Amino acid sequence: MSPIGIFDSGYGGLTILRTIRQLMPQYDYLYLGDNARTPYGTRSFEVVYEFTLQAVNRLFLEGCPLVILGCNTASAKALRTIQQHDLPQTDPSRRVLGVIRPTAECIGNITQTRHVGIFATPGTIRSRTYDLEIAKLHPDIKVTGVACPMWVPLVENNEAHMPGADYFVKQKIDELLALDPQVDSIILGCTHYPLLMDKIQQHIPSGIKVIPQGDYVATSLQYYLQRHPEMQSRISQSGTLRLLTTEQPEQFNESAAIFLDHPVDAVRITL
Ligand code: DGL
Repeated sequence: MSPIGIFDSGYGGLTILRTIRQLMPQYDYLYLGDNARTPYGTRSFEVVYEFTLQAVNRLFLEGCPLVILGCNTASAKALRTIQQHDLPQTDPSRRVLGVIRPTAECIGNITQTRHVGIFATPGTIRSRTYDLEIAKLHPDIKVTGVACPMWVPLVENNEAHMPGADYFVKQKIDELLALDPQVDSIILGCTHYPLLMDKIQQHIPSGIKVIPQGDYVATSLQYYLQRHPEMQSRISQSGTLRLLTTEQPEQFNESAAIFLDHPVDAVRITL
């Protein structure tokens, strides 16, 4: 088996796995959630890099020729160093891709006002990776980022549909629109946030588009594999899914089933 590896600090990357699998069900997939050490969003650059590298190496060891960091925080803080420093030493024929670039690419066709908002973890916002990537591709777009440190814990603790979530969601929408009232499109720059979509839609003024990134990441991966037949041919195609977690699997299975809409049977590993 040489599956596509998908990594996240916890459950968030399952929103990416889900859309990728919907588009390309033929491939084998191996998901790794570092649930024992989630969240990453409030951790330093060094720690996110160290944890992400451990996860990537584990997915390589499991036979993945290609790993997707289904986590914006890891994509913002660890991807470049892994691509430029670690991969050339460990195995230059393998690839690690992130979720920020494909999301930045799509936004140019979505915003009319050229004012875009980002909701993401404190780590992603502080890294300014979205600002830099969007500026490279669409220099006319003004980007305003707001960190939402409470949103990942709400999702991880199954509180996303509870009344308490309304307060934290509305608070951040108000903060963003006060900073830039001309925003017409908001990127959910954290793979956990699509689970809060119902609440976000309830509180967002009509006319503002909310953009989960799963579909764009999936389409971009499909296009990448078309352009790289040497990588595409290395990925096994039996349509299987295996899940690994660094926490006890019982809790993971319960929550992951909500993200994926079907029962799962994860295996616990240590990194
Ligand atoms: N899902 C991750 C992301 O996309 C962040 C979750 C965390 O803080 O660990 O940024």
